[in-house]
Amino acid sequence: MKKYIFPTDFLWGVATSAHQIEGLPLVDGCGKSIWYTFSHTPGNIKDGSTIDVACNFYNMWKKDILLMKYLGIKSYRFSISWSRILPHGFGKINKKAIDFYNRIIDELLKHGIIPMVTIYHWELPVELQYRGGWLNNEIADWFAEYAFVLFKYFSDRVKLWITINEPISIVLCGYILGIHPPSMRDINFAFRCVYNLVRAHGKAVGVFREIGVKNGKIGIAVNCMPVFSATKKKIDVKVAKRLHSFYNELVLDLIFFGQYPENILKFFGEEITPLSTEDRKIITTPFDFVGLNYYTRAIVKYSTNNFLNCEYVKNKKGSYTKMGWEIYPKGLYEILAWLNKNYNPKEIYITENGASFDDRIVKDKVDDYKRVKFLKEHIKYLYKAIKDYNNIKGYYVWSLMDNYEWAEGFTQRFGLIYVDFNTQKRIIKKSGFWYRKFIIENLNK
Ligand code: FCB
Repeated sequence: MKKYIFPTDFLWGVATSAHQIEGLPLVDGCGKSIWYTFSHTPGNIKDGSTIDVACNFYNMWKKDILLMKYLGIKSYRFSISWSRILPHGFGKINKKAIDFYNRIIDELLKHGIIPMVTIYHWELPVELQYRGGWLNNEIADWFAEYAFVLFKYFSDRVKLWITINEPISIVLCGYILGIHPPSMRDINFAFRCVYNLVRAHGKAVGVFREIGVKNGKIGIAVNCMPVFSATKKKIDVKVAKRLHSFYNELVLDLIFFGQYPENILKFFGEEITPLSTEDRKIITTPFDFVGLNYYTRAIVKYSTNNFLNCEYVKNKKGSYTKMGWEIYPKGLYEILAWLNKNYNPKEIYITENGASFDDRIVKDKVDDYKRVKFLKEHIKYLYKAIKDYNNIKGYYVWSLMDNYEWAEGFTQRFGLIYVDFNTQKRIIKKSGFWYRKFIIENLNK
């Protein structure tokens, strides 16, 4: 691959999340989360699997960090489990969970790996769900309390923080499509959830500022994708714009401008939770960076079958990952350019990018050449964006290792490292070796 010259302080990373890798969700005094109960309800997860063991990172963290070190990873993005730290969602702190994450942070730093912590990656404590979860306006304060605890214990060493991972996925999968907990299908609830997610984000940023974390930065991770209309027909163009507003603009407009996108207001009208002056102040609390999770694009046409009146159309010439997501590397550049033009964030980190393929072990090796190609092509567009914009600071591959892919269970492999879920054996895939070499060759030029 062509050698690029990336900024010397550019963070080459990998990402994971607590429930997708840790396993043992109930040990050491931890509380249940909504992913625990959801995955224990038959019929919800494609292969019937639960989060009980996952990658057993709870026990294997030391070895896994050594693997990161071998891969030459500069930064590791992971999430902390709310229900481990605060088993009831608020109140009593579980010191054993604090100790667990302390060990991880210290071990990372020992190996020169910079931790980036996601405060909320979808695992709401069940006890908060009993009280209405994201539909209860008090959640912004519960979240701020939880964030405060994390900053108090960890911000002396953790300097990069993400409030919430993919707010729009929480809304879409949990409150509209019903495929993630709490499995609702209701537009009105969905907008209440949006409202509380951005309020929670704003309050947590406020706490971060109050504490005054030295050299610390805080942001949010949003998932965005370019949206195209399948035809030139007015009606298709219109629904493509609507999907773009819902998927890409809704959260960002709220936290940057304190308002809902115009066509979302028009289309959904009274379903939307109104904003008070006080809300606007909270949700626009200035933050330091946007984390971008980039996977694919959408091509859509009009259809009455969906809450936005649009339907996905397959690109017959396109190639797709096992998730059924079209591989569209150029979109990474397109979204970065759009983000900069519309919101002009101080900094951007690509907090997730990666792909799931049908990886197989042959003679103890995994030749995932498709993932190598995927990464090379995306990094090519990342490089183009870095040349045009000087605020892009890091890139994290999703994921360090194969893990629990939510409602897909263990059927989707996204890792640079293959995990045999029966034996917990790890095998570095070709893409892992490729990333290692790439990092070495592109650093410190
Ligand atoms: C993202 C999630 C992440 C992982 C990838 C494949 O939407 O943030 O946890 O599941 O998709």
